Amino acid sequence: MNITGKTRVFGVIGDPIEHSLSPAMQNAAFEHLKLDCVFLAFKVKPAEVENALRGVRGLGVCGLNVTMPHKNAVIAYLDEVDETAQFLSSVNTILNDNGKLRGFSTDGTGALNALRESGLEPHGKKVLLLGAGGAAKAIAFTLAKEAETIVILNRTPEKTKALTEALNARFGKKVKSGALASDVMKKHMQGADILINATSVGMHPHAEQSLVAPEWLKPELTVMDIVYNPAETKLAKDAKAAGATVISGVEMLLYQGAASFKIWTDCKAPVEVMRKAALNQLLKAGAAK
Ligand code: ATR
Repeated sequence: MNITGKTRVFGVIGDPIEHSLSPAMQNAAFEHLKLDCVFLAFKVKPAEVENALRGVRGLGVCGLNVTMPHKNAVIAYLDEVDETAQFLSSVNTILNDNGKLRGFSTDGTGALNALRESGLEPHGKKVLLLGAGGAAKAIAFTLAKEAETIVILNRTPEKTKALTEALNARFGKKVKSGALASDVMKKHMQGADILINATSVGMHPHAEQSLVAPEWLKPELTVMDIVYNPAETKLAKDAKAAGATVISGVEMLLYQGAASFKIWTDCKAPVEVMRKAALNQLLKAGAAK
């Protein structure tokens, strides 16, 4: 790495931030394309979000990723927020466009591109989405433009109801919802083309958990899990064993990072290099546990 007086600074803000895969992924991409840019992780406490964004303006930081818990809070300090981020009330990418701070959300794009790169075109497909949190909302918003129907099942019914109503008001009545109960899930699994786990179930240290019974999985199904630690979740293992197409959480993370990279640099992201860097970083983190 050769830092010069012209090096452009990018970063990610969040709390906690120590385990972020973004620095490894984005620096590998900068290096591969020989861009004079560097990407750092900044631990920012909720009370410091405003100061952090003042710093971005003051120091001329060129762009940021934003992760938990600041995806909503940053909006108040931006000059402009794109349509998707506005609907989601969530920004994960900021571009410093000659002093104007512009916010985007690439979480949904990440999921859509991960599906497409696996060879599946979601247009006209039936989606079963588990979860109604921030990630589920971003995925549902993007897929609602493409899919024939989306069924959302979540543990907390109020969240499911609010998300379903917001999506149906915008996209017509293609979104249905229900309880995250075994019988309901089993019923909806039968007609589904795509199953997405957008809950945190199966995440380290509960890697043995999955919401989906292995016998419901079949070869025609595409299964995407947003959980990326472990890189292969129990759901992914079960789906693979059933012959289904499996897309890991690392892929979604990778393609959201690739979309952020494009916004900042206007260059096509070198996804292969970024994937390798992200997986290496996960391996190292695993080894350090
Ligand atoms: P994210 O931004 O990653 O989506 P989030 O907004 O906190 O995080 O959402 C987490 C999702 O995982 C929610 O859908 C949550 O369900 P609730 O809305 O009922 O909280 C879901 N979730 C977390 N732990 C779960 C569990 N043990 N069983 C079922 N769903 C769970």
